[in-house]
Amino acid sequence: MSTHIAAKPGEIAEVVLLPGDPLRAKFVADTYLENPVRYNDIRNVFGYTGTYKGTQVSVQGTGMGIPSISIYVNELFRDYGVKRAFRIGTAGSLRADVKLRDLVLAMSACTDSGANKIRFGGRDYAPTASFSLLKTAHDTACALGFKPVTGPIVSSDMFYTEDPDEWKLWAKFGCIAVEMESAELYTLAAKYGCEALTILTISDSLVTHEAASAEERQQTFNQMIEVALETAIS
Ligand code: HPA
Repeated sequence: MSTHIAAKPGEIAEVVLLPGDPLRAKFVADTYLENPVRYNDIRNVFGYTGTYKGTQVSVQGTGMGIPSISIYVNELFRDYGVKRAFRIGTAGSLRADVKLRDLVLAMSACTDSGANKIRFGGRDYAPTASFSLLKTAHDTACALGFKPVTGPIVSSDMFYTEDPDEWKLWAKFGCIAVEMESAELYTLAAKYGCEALTILTISDSLVTHEAASAEERQQTFNQMIEVALETAIS
């Protein structure tokens, strides 16, 4: 029984795109899906199902942060038979050579979150993307002419950190970018025997303190959706 998603059984596709912002879910449904039907509006965290090139695809807002995405993804995997999930979102760059608007494929997700500390009783789990989705997304992105940066990211519980230099330790250990959800998505995919991949665009840089404009974010958002949808149906 799902508490936060009101869909009936069968109303959600096996493949789901997961933007943080529910209005981005509406944008994806209106722009990319044929015959989209809204199956959820509880808390205005919208979810839609439609078809993309003949395949059923859903798109569900998750809210921001690990506790929020955890609720939606638990319900999708556990109650609705979702098999493949793609987070599409933005991230802050941790590297001078990773620029605004770059596309990032998250191979793994380090985290400072308490969620896996609770779940694993202090043991260390390594949240990892589906290799087959990662490979397909990488090939798809390259075929579309994008140059994805692929590697580990950080899923942080804190957007406004006390120590402004905290990110530098993650950067020193190879992390490309910081966002706030993927460690939980990858952990839950493993738990439920599903596949997951996070595709991100760089919206700001912790190195240079630059930030992308709303227009630039929209443009790269479209690239991300294309890569996610083409990977989803391949
Ligand atoms: N920190 C955390 N999450 C983010 C950021 C950031 O700088 N940018 C986009 N999502």
